[in-house]
Amino acid sequence: MSDGLDTTEKRGQWSGRWGFILASSGCAIGLGNIWKFPYITGENGGGLFVLIYLACIALIGLPIMLAEVLLGRATQKSPVGAYRDFSAKGSPWVIPGWIGVLAGFVILSYYSVVAGWALHYTWLSLQGGFAGMDAETIGNTFGSVFADGNLNLGWHTAFMMLTIAIVLGGVRDGVERIARILMPLLFVMLLVLLGLAMQSDGFAEAFSFIFSPDASKLTRAGVLEALGHSFFTLSLGMGAMITYGSYLKKKEDIVSASVVISILDTVIALVACMVLFPIIFSYGMEPGAGPGLVFVSLPIAFSQMAGGAIWATVFFALLVFAALTSAISMLEVVVSTVIDETRLRRTAATLLCGTAIFLFGIPSALSGTDGFAGKEFEDLTAGIFGEGKGKNWFDTFDYLASNWLLPLGGLMIALFVAWRAGAAAREKGFNEGTRFQNLYVAWLMLLRYLVPIGVVAVLLHALEVI
Ligand code: TRP
Repeated sequence: MSDGLDTTEKRGQWSGRWGFILASSGCAIGLGNIWKFPYITGENGGGLFVLIYLACIALIGLPIMLAEVLLGRATQKSPVGAYRDFSAKGSPWVIPGWIGVLAGFVILSYYSVVAGWALHYTWLSLQGGFAGMDAETIGNTFGSVFADGNLNLGWHTAFMMLTIAIVLGGVRDGVERIARILMPLLFVMLLVLLGLAMQSDGFAEAFSFIFSPDASKLTRAGVLEALGHSFFTLSLGMGAMITYGSYLKKKEDIVSASVVISILDTVIALVACMVLFPIIFSYGMEPGAGPGLVFVSLPIAFSQMAGGAIWATVFFALLVFAALTSAISMLEVVVSTVIDETRLRRTAATLLCGTAIFLFGIPSALSGTDGFAGKEFEDLTAGIFGEGKGKNWFDTFDYLASNWLLPLGGLMIALFVAWRAGAAAREKGFNEGTRFQNLYVAWLMLLRYLVPIGVVAVLLHALEVI
């Protein structure tokens, strides 16, 4: 039996290139793609927002992803140790590493609550879904789900237990194995739903909504959201990709792997929009419905559709799968840091961190209770997510973490790798295992200049300085 203390436990490793790509895609593709991206696209008027988001992914996100994976693979450490290994002794650069771990801790605590709604909606769909319910009833269902503290606590507990169970299994037998099963399933389910959406009347309208730029709806906050979301969706800025990179062998090609992961993530987000919006438009719903989009507008559409209960079950199960492979990445960052920095071994570290995050998530699970109960649905969502950011734990966390912490964390990583890390180690880290060595200089230039300037400009723009 283990006493929970062991310094000899071997560090995990992916089985190979595809193990890494699948696990990292699982990490990147999550609620961000299927729940959040469609609703923020809807709120920000489509087209132009999508365009800015795509530019952020290609010019800022991708270079940072490479920097993170490089740092992880070169040091074979999670964020704190990776920063430490690449800087001078006693350097303050470990601080952004710790902030990243903290961000993961905070994000998972409320992410699990949203995943809990997805679990609950899968359960409702399995029981026959929303057939026969009218729009108001479905709207009120989400309102009352949110206001039901015990229900939220229950699903939050269930989801955290699932997440903990997988991370207990370790890198290859837990994280990679579940990604190998769930990711292909997710792709197939999404394609099936896309087939359904393409046959609906709203497809053309949805297509032009997503792709034709309209500047009138985009605000300063919208630009910040596009940037923040590009970090959130690629899981950047808190060291998740450092950690996943640290389980990668030196002979693998991190350049092509990062490109594949970014493309997969972006395609899935766009496909999610092409599934949701046609259905939304076909049934005359509003694209700007906010966070309730997949929990209210979509079920309303399903309730009127032939075979709606089955489609609803497929959709919400897909949402749960996407959430699960992302949640395990956040827990893995925290656990792996604790394993690296203390003498705890995986079992003890996972149980400890998982429980702590679960407890920290309780206020988010309860954020729909008290003052909110009994209000009309619109009031409820306006109060929770509306104009005045920061009205409760749940909303405050999401806003601060995705729009501020992650971009700042990403900025730190870019500055560190581009300006602080030793030139030789950096170049070797990039080139090892790749055929794309000719891209090194272009990548370095992006990371040195465009990334920091871009991130700082968007942050200053949001603060109304520029
Ligand atoms: N990218 C995931 C999503 O889109 C969320 C996520 C997982 C994440 N790991 C992360 C976000 C690390 C930031 C940092 O849902």
